[in-house]
Amino acid sequence: MVVVLLGPPGVGKGTQAVRLADEIGAAHVSTGDLLRAARREGTALGRKAAEYMDAGELVPDALILDLVREHLGTLDPATPILFDGFPRTIDQATGLDDVLAEAGRGVDHVVLFEAPDDVIVKRLSGRRSCLDCGAVYSIYFNPPAVDGVCDRCGGVLIQRIDDEPETVQRRLAVYRQETAPLVEFYEKRDGVLKRIRADRSVDEVYEALRTALGLSGA
Ligand code: AP5
Repeated sequence: MVVVLLGPPGVGKGTQAVRLADEIGAAHVSTGDLLRAARREGTALGRKAAEYMDAGELVPDALILDLVREHLGTLDPATPILFDGFPRTIDQATGLDDVLAEAGRGVDHVVLFEAPDDVIVKRLSGRRSCLDCGAVYSIYFNPPAVDGVCDRCGGVLIQRIDDEPETVQRRLAVYRQETAPLVEFYEKRDGVLKRIRADRSVDEVYEALRTALGLSGA
């Protein structure tokens, strides 16, 4: 099974992807996480990507497609995959089709997470991420037991540079311009795209996600 989680920044894709990947034994492929790892490691790609990411712009398609192709090469070809934050442009989506076709696979489900901008802005302003293990918290909805310290690994929690208010507005604009056209792209494929309301509790969104994927009652 190949699933794409689509939706604006901060709508909760990563939170749900971690839980679903755990439940169904899928590989969680977040291009944002792969890029942040490349930055931490100081690779050439990480250095190139940094400027785009901190400004809330998209990293060029060619770099992203190389990154995804390389990462997929490390996975067992039969592993279910959850793409989170990828594809983000029409060119990335057609590139993904090509890469999957080489392995005799295709996109089975696209789940579109929808929430009003004010909900998204609040979520991003409250997000804190662990520098060491990448775990995600919210100072409003899911705070760590000790302020600024990761429950999971004891690492330091930080606010991402791109979660600052001006950059969030830019990311939302980029989403509308570059990524929202993917809704129509996938709507043309019969029954592939499902919409879920993401302005609900984490548990409610998770149940909606499971239903969208036909996992409820399973
Ligand atoms: P990326 O890391 O992918 O960021 P994003 O898509 O903007 O998504 P986020 O990680 O911000 O949000 P999310 O939807 O996963 O929400 P989360 O679960 O964390 O990309 C960062 C940058 O990298 C891009 O701007 C770009 O520069 C580059 N990039 C990445 N991929 C690229 C690509 N394919 N092409 C080009 N460039 C690319 O939740 C957010 C907060 O809300 C958390 O605090 C969480 O605890 C809280 N929360 C989640 N769900 C709920 C809920 N139901 N109720 C209350 N709080 C909730």
